[in-house]
Amino acid sequence: MKRIAVLASGSGTNAQRLIEHFQEHSAARVVLVGCDKPGAGVLERASELHVPCYLFGGGALRDGTVLRELQGQGIDLVVLAGFMRLIPAELVRAYPDRIVNIHPSLLPRHGGKGMYGQHVHKAVIAAQEKESGITIHMVNERYDEGRVLFQAACPVLPDDTPASLAERIHVLEHEHYPRTVESFITS
Ligand code: GAR
Repeated sequence: MKRIAVLASGSGTNAQRLIEHFQEHSAARVVLVGCDKPGAGVLERASELHVPCYLFGGGALRDGTVLRELQGQGIDLVVLAGFMRLIPAELVRAYPDRIVNIHPSLLPRHGGKGMYGQHVHKAVIAAQEKESGITIHMVNERYDEGRVLFQAACPVLPDDTPASLAERIHVLEHEHYPRTVESFITS
């Protein structure tokens, strides 16, 4: 049984879908939710689903405390679900090819430092893109540059706002993220 830690900073709708997907799964389970934002919605979602939460600050991420916590809990795979900090090189090296991220655009378009959540959707609309989508990829030491596992596209409509586009993207994320993580684990 693979032990998954989900790291998230926000509302946690993807974290919730991941927890639910693996709740009764024979190959993997979400056993920990790590969060760097006190009061983030993900904390409540995780505790409603009886998954322990680990709250930490940026210092703990950088100085190896988070890494030791993950190793101490026997975590096999780290899944980022709206986690807004750069994963330090030491953690990437400790979990080679075992950290997965989801990004709300068709990378390499609209990725990189500062590109997260609504910032991405604003940039997509400002660039007058006809389509956007999601990218699920492995994490390396640079923002949004690891090997791509899966992409799916959706249209950008003429009257889209960042919020309406985010809603369409979330539907794609909820449909594909748990399944893609599952195929990664079981392949
Ligand atoms: C998701 O759209 C995810 O793709 C994005 O944050 C949102 C979190 O939503 N991640 C990034 O922008 C990472 N660069 P959620 O809290 O409802 O799961």
